[in-house]
Amino acid sequence: MVSYRFKARDGTAVIFREPRSTDARQLMDFINRFADEPMSGIVVNRKTTLREEKRWLADRLGEIRNKETVMLVVESGGRIMGNCDVGRYRHKKSHRALFGIALSTEIRGKGVGEALMRKVIGLARQRFKGLEFIDLSAMDYNARALNLYRKVGFVELARIPKAMKEGDMYVDEALMTLPLKSKKR
Ligand SMILES: CC(C)(COP(=O)(O)OP(=O)(O)OC[C@H]1O[C@@H](n2cnc3c(N)ncnc32)[C@H](O)[C@@H]1OP(=O)(O)O)[C@@H](O)C(=O)NCCC(=O)NCCS
Repeated sequence: MVSYRFKARDGTAVIFREPRSTDARQLMDFINRFADEPMSGIVVNRKTTLREEKRWLADRLGEIRNKETVMLVVESGGRIMGNCDVGRYRHKKSHRALFGIALSTEIRGKGVGEALMRKVIGLARQRFKGLEFIDLSAMDYNARALNLYRKVGFVELARIPKAMKEGDMYVDEALMTLPLKSKKR
C-alpha cells in the first residue's frame, strides 16, 4: 500500500495514501460536507449513508486490487480531507481512464491538489499498461479546477451546454483529456 508525506504551502502536514476498508465512515463524512456547499464543483448533491459508502468503498477496493482503479486519499490530523482517483474504462475504451479529485475547503489553494493529482496520474501510468488518455469533466464555473487541469497538461475537447443543474441554474460541462506520451499508437 503506497503512502507519501507532503507539506502544504502553509506548512500543514498531509499524507497521501491508498484507502482501507476501515475508511468508510471518514469517507462518508468527507463527501457529505460537499452536499451543503453551494457550487462545490462536484456532481454529488445529496448526503450518502454509511451503508452506501461501505458498498462504494468495497467496489473501489476491488477495482484497486484488479488494477482498474488507482486512488489516494488525503489524511491530515487523522481526518480524510481529500480523494483522487483514476478509473480505467473497459473493453474498447481500455486505453482511456477517468480522473476525479476533491479536497475539503480547509486544504484548498495550498498546493495539495496539484501534488495529489501528479501522484495519482503517475501511479495510473505505472499500473495501467497501454493507457493513452486520461479524461475528466469539470463545471465551467470551476476556474480553480480548470486552471489546475490546464497546468498539468489537460486540453479541452468540448463543452456540453446545460449538462448539469444546480438548483435552477444550468451549468455547462467542460470535457478535457491528458494525452499520455506512448511509443506505440
Ligand atoms: C480543484 C481542486 C482539486 C484544486 O486543488 P487545490 O489544492 O485547491 O489547488 P492547488 O493549490 O494545488 O493549485 C494548483 C493550481 O490550481 C489553480 N488554482 C488554485 N486555486 C485557484 C483559485 N482560487 N483560482 C484560480 N485558480 C486556482 C492554479 O493554476 C494553481 O496553480 P498555481 O499555484 O501555480 O497558481 C480543489 O480546490 C478542490 O477540490 N475543489 C473542490 C472540488 C472540486 O472542484 N473538484 C474538481 C471537480 S472537476
